Amino acid sequence: MALDNTINGSPNDQPITDIPLELMEGYPSFDEWYRVEKDPWDIGKAMSSDYSVVIEYLRTIKPITVFDVGCGLGGLTKRINIEITPRILHAIDISDVAIRKAISFYSTIGVCFTVADIRECYKDIIGWDTVIMSEIGWYIAPQFPRIIRQLGKSNMNLIIKQTFPANQQHYRAIMSRPENLDDMVGIPLIKRWVEPDGKGGRITVRWYGGDI
Ligand SMILES: C[S@@+](CC[C@H](N)C(=O)[O-])C[C@H]1O[C@@H](n2cnc3c(N)ncnc32)[C@H](O)[C@@H]1O
Repeated sequence: MALDNTINGSPNDQPITDIPLELMEGYPSFDEWYRVEKDPWDIGKAMSSDYSVVIEYLRTIKPITVFDVGCGLGGLTKRINIEITPRILHAIDISDVAIRKAISFYSTIGVCFTVADIRECYKDIIGWDTVIMSEIGWYIAPQFPRIIRQLGKSNMNLIIKQTFPANQQHYRAIMSRPENLDDMVGIPLIKRWVEPDGKGGRITVRWYGGDI
């Protein structure tokens, strides 16, 4: 299994210039956002129904090893750890501040939290049962097609949970509808699609690589 299971606390304060500006509300970096805001997306303990749908699906496939990309403060990661109990659970985020907070909240539960940029390390993510990309697509939109195509090529279950806000202005040429994700992965693996009403727009949850 690639991608070292050690905690890397290297600071990452570089501005992310290619993210949708209206989502950043003036903050120069994810670190700054996490420093100023207690919970930038109001995710809390990831108890809303769209997260529960992901948990339900994980229950059906019972992964032994899980890799969570863009874990933020670790709400979903913690649910996976407690409710699914994989043997190995590794979570990464580009924000050093978020990872430090996640570790301070959840250090006792045995999750490996690491600072890493998925745009740089996606080729090293191999040999996992399941890889989760929850609500990260817009922040890596220019590289998202390349990343999920690469991950979709392997035998890993790739779970993509992605909101498509009705008023999304940026990156519409890359992804404006859930169907665009099919084209990106390049293989017809969509198994389920859930659309509860969500604040800020339509929420779409899609799974790749496993039946439900
Ligand atoms: C909307 S939050 C989603 C958090 C969590 N996955 C969830 O669904 O509750 C997006 C997260 O992606 C992280 N992120 C953005 N760009 C990233 C990148 N290039 N590599 C890793 N994480 C990134 C942000 O720091 C943030 O924590």
